[in-house]
Order: sequence, then structure tokens, then C-alpha cells
Amino acid sequence: MPMPTLNEIRSTFLSFFERNDHRVVESSPLVPRNDPTLMFTNSGMVQFKNCFTGVEHRDYVRATTSQKCVRAGGKHNDLDNVGYTARHHTFFEMLGNFSFGDYFKEQAIPYAWDLLTKDFGIDKSKLLVTVYHTDDEAANIWKKYAGLSDDRIIRIKTDDNFWSMGSTGPCGPCTEIFYDHGDSIWGGPPGSADEDGDRFIEIWNLVFMQNERFEDGSMRALDMQSIDTGMGLERIGALLQGKHDNYDTDLMRSLIEASAHATSQDPDGPGRVHHRVIADHLRSTSFLMADGVMPSNEGRGYVLRRIMRRAMRHAHMLGAKDPVMYRLVPALVAQMGQAFPELGRAQAMIEETLKLEETRFKQTLERGLRLLDDELTGMEEGAALPGATAFKLYDTYGFPLDLTQDALREKGREVDTDGFDAAMAEQKAKARAAWAGTGEAADQAVWFDIAEEKGTTDFLGYDTERAEGQIVALVTEGARVGNAAKGASIQIVLNQTPFYAESGGQVGDSGTLKTESGRVRVTDTKKVAGLFVHMAVVEEGEIKAGQAAQLEVSHTRRSAIRANHSATHLLHEALRGALGEHVAQRGSLNAEDRLRFDFSHAKALSAAELERVEREVNDYIRQNAPVETRIMAPDDARALGAQALFGEKYGDEVRVVSMGQAEGSGKGADGRTYSIELCGGTHVRRTGDIGVFVALAESASSAGVRRIEALTGAAAFDYLSGQAARLGQVASDLKARPEDVAERVKVLMEERRALANEVAQLRRELAMSGGAGQGGGAEAREVGGVKLIAQVLTGVQGKDLPPLIDEHKVRLGSGAVLLIADTGGKVAVAAGVTEDLTDRISAVEMVRAAVAELGGKGGGGRADMAQGGGTSMDGAEAAIAAATGVIEGVMTS
Ligand code: ALA
Repeated sequence: MPMPTLNEIRSTFLSFFERNDHRVVESSPLVPRNDPTLMFTNSGMVQFKNCFTGVEHRDYVRATTSQKCVRAGGKHNDLDNVGYTARHHTFFEMLGNFSFGDYFKEQAIPYAWDLLTKDFGIDKSKLLVTVYHTDDEAANIWKKYAGLSDDRIIRIKTDDNFWSMGSTGPCGPCTEIFYDHGDSIWGGPPGSADEDGDRFIEIWNLVFMQNERFEDGSMRALDMQSIDTGMGLERIGALLQGKHDNYDTDLMRSLIEASAHATSQDPDGPGRVHHRVIADHLRSTSFLMADGVMPSNEGRGYVLRRIMRRAMRHAHMLGAKDPVMYRLVPALVAQMGQAFPELGRAQAMIEETLKLEETRFKQTLERGLRLLDDELTGMEEGAALPGATAFKLYDTYGFPLDLTQDALREKGREVDTDGFDAAMAEQKAKARAAWAGTGEAADQAVWFDIAEEKGTTDFLGYDTERAEGQIVALVTEGARVGNAAKGASIQIVLNQTPFYAESGGQVGDSGTLKTESGRVRVTDTKKVAGLFVHMAVVEEGEIKAGQAAQLEVSHTRRSAIRANHSATHLLHEALRGALGEHVAQRGSLNAEDRLRFDFSHAKALSAAELERVEREVNDYIRQNAPVETRIMAPDDARALGAQALFGEKYGDEVRVVSMGQAEGSGKGADGRTYSIELCGGTHVRRTGDIGVFVALAESASSAGVRRIEALTGAAAFDYLSGQAARLGQVASDLKARPEDVAERVKVLMEERRALANEVAQLRRELAMSGGAGQGGGAEAREVGGVKLIAQVLTGVQGKDLPPLIDEHKVRLGSGAVLLIADTGGKVAVAAGVTEDLTDRISAVEMVRAAVAELGGKGGGGRADMAQGGGTSMDGAEAAIAAATGVIEGVMTS
């Protein structure tokens, strides 16, 4: 029989169960969406957890998978052993078949036996099994179906044969199938004193899921009996390929050879362990990145970084002068890209990230290793490395503790981990003191306590809007509480969350949170001391610290926020294109209903500039280019031309968001990218998701800073459609087509202006002629030898009076004029005196005398022309008399 490859073995497994009515289900991502207690997916059943407990129902009751698994952090941590042993991996595939309340033991055991002995052709006489000590039923099936004798059915009392996914969740007794490599290899059967030897190797675990375990240790029987099995592909592969070591299988061997080739070092020479570490770590790091984990200094990202750095140190040990890891990615994609297409899709990003990480780390690696060597020279044989030194390596040179331990392992030394922890605690205490010293709500020290005790929050929201999280703390008024009941306002901290916490101008997410005992509305999310704090109100039941919670971000709201944030990046770039490179972001708001962008620019934008910017943003929206994010060193990001956001502090690495293919020359490595910014926000997948962009207003924000407010997506559409409706209304009122409205309005305005002039002219003429509607008296009479025209007018404005006065003065040649006009609710008064009389008669006095009778006060001007105002026409007669009196008074004295 030709030796099957791992790819073939995977296919044989999946098709065996497919033939037996199982749905072939894709591997779930390495970051579990539905389990907050897990750092990484570490077994095939993780994605089906809720199917076993009956919380979730799918349209199939039998499934089979080849699940990507990582064990490199948390409970199952294999990192330290990888490279040195035959069967430890940080990444492996778990083959499994699952029944959700469908078949149970009676079927699961025969399936496993048939596949192993028939399809895989394994010699029956080499197989033996374990069962849980009380599980007679399983023992009987093995005896009857497989014909195994009692001595090859070993009863185990310990938890080795009672499988649980963690401290809580579905669990049950299990039966494990072992392969006997024969007495040429040391080791005893399971349960014996020598069981740790390599002779008897476990190949398949069948779990009879029938219980659920709770926080307090209690257990309940599940309503249905289910099956969960797990078989390491690498192990069964080694067996079927006649190897004893997983690293000798075709797939692992090809990666080892790629490493040997890239470093020009014999795969089986002194560098053997290094190649094995590199081959394994290449798989875990690449798959983690393909599933959205990026190297960072926290949570999952930090585990990824630790694995990367460990591999990079081993590459360094092989004498590699230049980065190695990224050059091995094509070999991995060739081996595994078909079974896991996500790997090929992420290939460029994985290569780029590995290269940057390795380039950067190499710079400190050598100095760090030198420091380590110097320390060791003075030290006693076998003594542990002081914790403070390990901490310095960690703090200054980016050596994770396990990397230092790994480096010392070859020298037969250990690290004083207590000393390391003490140094770490001291540093945290200092950071805390510094934080409290900033005066920022020192009473909120509770957040620091939580962060220290529980670790910071892992943000899942770049990839998902729904996830499970574990409530690590409930806070109200600065104090931790155990639970919160209906109606309570509460701040919730979870170990991980898809909710974005307000930062970089993007508002915090809202949505819902549910636990088995209550429902909560999250109104906002804020970031404090690395924690994501969910501001919430309990709407139903109660929630308790420690509970698992289903989290769901409000999708419509988040989509709108995303569109606004991505549009802000396009706007920024368009402004730089239209106005110049001096344009820099000065602030921004990316809310659900609008966006606001403040930028440095000295003067207001012209209508043409604004139009150009708006058009360009929309052009790039329609380009529908993918939006890409990656993590890199700040300097590398700047070298790519990334725009740094105002007011942000950048750490070791930054998230870089790029979008659009520049129409002319652009930025980035390819010189074609339109927008590149450092940004931690959430963005659309493709620019087309923004929909449409409308600039509403441009204004001054402060000296030298302009502000643009704009809308996108549905809000922009609503706005435009509202504008169109108003235009339609105006057109219909004008009985014109919408496209003719502007012209029509212009014509109407001109007509109106002409008419207004005409009306004013007519009024004046009417007033002069003393015609209809005017109070008469346009005829002059004699007062003390002076000709006086005193007239009461209606339908004229105050501003019409002076020209009328002038006309009357011309007509009189010599004399005085008094005009009182009813301007609708008010009274305007004006008086005029011809030049020859102004040394005796004052228009100002005439006005003042008249105004006093009209309910007004004052009045002013010059002796030849004065004006004033009153409130009531009732005194018009008296006002004329008073003004007349002024003339009589001076002329007869
Ligand atoms: N879930 C079981 C395991 O991981 C099959 O071993």
C-alpha cells in the first residue's frame, strides 16, 4: 500500500463519516467565538459546545471536522516542549466525528473500529483501549464488536477517562484507543507505572457526552446523549506512515526541509531541534494570523508574539542573518492551502507581518542574548538566572519569559521565576502610582485592581459583532459588586468583547448582553486602564460576576459608525489632495448619524474645493476597493506614508488601515495605495460599503482649523432624498420642472426687485400729489410767515421719508416740512427745513416736538433734516400742532 499523505488521511477520515451521513463542517476559527474561557480553540468540540448542552440546534445531528487547534497559552500549554519531543505541537489538527443526541456508544465505537482497521488498515492486534472504570457498556461493545479480549480493555479510574472541556461545560466518560509500537520501545500500557513511555501511544479519544459541569463543581445529566471524538491528524499520520515521530510525517518534514533550505543547515544535523521548532511555530503563527490575531503585547496577540519570537530565536541559532520565517510561508501554503483556503487569502499579510516582526526583533535579539551570556559567565554552575535579569530581557529586549527559559534550557539552567514575578509586580505598582498621580479620577482605582487581577480585555470586534465573554467584574459607583438586578445601572467588564470602546474619535458600541439569568442593555463602551467598560442597564432578571455572557453589538448602528469612520479616512486624503500636504487631522467624531472632521487649514474652502473633495470621496467609494489592516512598527508605518492621527499615543506597534487604489501615484510599498492611516477603529470591508458621502457644512472650528460635517450611507441618502422632496415641492409651487427652478427663481427675484422699485416710486409720487389714501395737507400753508407742509401718510416706510422731504423742499423753495407716516404698528416722523431758514428753525426740534405727541421719545438729525419715531398715530393732529408751534415760536419772537 503506498504511504498516504496527511492530506489524504484527512480526506479519508472526512469521507468515511460523510458516507455515514455526517455533515462535513468547516474548521472553526482559532479564536473561539462562543467560548470566553478559552484563549484558542483547542479541540474539535469547541464550535459545537452549545449543541451538546441543547442551547443551539443546527440542521444536522451528525458532523465531522478537521479542526485547527492551538495549544500555546492557558490550560493546555505545549509551547515549552515543542521541538524537543516527538508529539508536542503548538498547532495541530484534530479529526473528529460528532453526534448531537443522535447515535451514542453503540455506534461510535464501531465507526472508530471500522475506520482504523478497514479504511486505514491498521493491524487489529496492535490496538487496545481504555474505558472509564464504571463504563461496562463501553467495555461490552469493545468486546463484542471489536472482539477485544479483557486484557486489552483497560479500566481507568482517573479523570484521564472522564473528559471535560474545562472547569465548566459539557463532559462525560471517554474511551481511548491506543497503538502498541511493540516491545522494542520502552513503555507500559495505560494505567501502568510505565505508561509515560513511548511504546503505547494514544491515537483516538471517544467522549460520551452526557453531563454538564457548572461553576460550583456540580454536574447535571444532559437531556441527550452525544458523541465527541478527537484524533490528532499528525499522530495518526505518523502511525500510518510508519513513523514514530510526528515531525517525520510528510507534511512536517516538508516544512523542516524548507527551514533547512532557507538557512542552509542540515535538517538532521545539530540544528535539528531548531528546524522542528520553526516548522511547528510557522504553522501556529500563520494560522493565528489568518484567523485575525495580530502580534501585540496583550492577550492572544502576545501569545502569538511569544511563539513568533521563540521561532525567530531558533532561526538565529541556525546562524540566519536575515529574516527566515516569512520565506517559509509558501511551503506551508503549498501543503495546507487547499484544505484551509484562509491561509492562501492571508498569505501576503502573513509574510509581511512575519518579516517585519523578525526584522525588528533581530535588532534586540542579539543584544539581549549578549546580555544573557554576560550574566551567565559570572554565575555558578547550574544556578538559576536572577529574576531581575529575566525581567530586564523582557522589558528592554522584548524577550518573553519562556523565550529566556528556552534559551537557558540548552545550558541546563532555569530562571528564578519568583524574582521575575516580583520585578513585574514592582513595575506595575509604579505604573499604577504614576496613573493615580495624573489626578484622573483616582477614586476609580477599582479599574486598575481589576486589570491587575483579571488582565486586560481582549477586543474581538474587528472580526465579529457577536461573541461570548465572561463577566470578570461588575462595578457600580466605583465599587465592585457580585450581581446586579433588574433596573440597575451597572458597569460590566468582560475578559473579551466585540464591543468597541470609545477612542480615536469613534464612539463606543451599544447592544445587548445576556446571561442565563438576565438581560442587559449596553448603552456605551469606554476604555479604562486597558479594560473595556460596558455601561449598561439590567432590563430583565439579574446578572452575576463570573457568568458567561452572550454579547451582541447593535449591528445597524455599528455599520453606520464603520461607514463614517472609513469615509473620514477618504475625506482626509481628498482634502490633502485638494488643499495641500499641510492638511492634518485635528480631531474627529465618527458617530452613528454623522461624521465630523477637523483639520489644519487657514481659510474657508471655496464651493469648488468642497465640491472637488466630495466628488473624490465618492469616486473612491465607488471604486469599492478592499480595506486592509495590518500591524507594524510606527516607523515602518510612517515609511509607508501613513497618516498619524492627532492626539494618539503610539506604542511598540500600530494598526495600519489602508484603502483605495490611487488614481495617480499613491502611498505604500506599491506606491498605489490611496489612503494609509494609523488607526485602531473599525472599518468597512470595502469602500463601497460606505454607500455615498455628502458634505453638509464647512466652517471654522478654531484659529487655523476648519471643520467639515458630513453624512454617509443611509443618513446621506435620507438627507439627499429630503432635499429632493423639498425641491420637488418648490418646483410644483412654481409650476416648473425641477431643473428649471433655479432659473425661475432668479427671474422671480429680478421681477420682485423691479416691482419693489416701482412700488416705492409710485408711493412717493402718490405722497407728493397728496392723492388717495394720504392724509391731505400736501398744500403749503403759512405759519409765522414760513411756508409749511405738514402731511400724514400711510403705506410708506420710514426710509421713504427723507427723499420725500427733499422733493417738498425743492417745491417750496423756502419753508418747512413735517411728515408723519403710519408704518404699520409704528410711526415714523421726519422734518425738513430749507437752507435759508435753518439758522432760525431746527428740523430736529420740530421732530422732537412731534414725536413727544406720538408716544415716542427723542429724534435727531441736522437742522435741515431730522427723523424720529413714535408708537401711536392717535396723536398725529397734536404732533402737527406741536411742530407748527415750534415754527410759530421762533418766527414770532
Ligand atoms: N474533545 C475530546 C478531546 O479533545 C475528543 O480529546
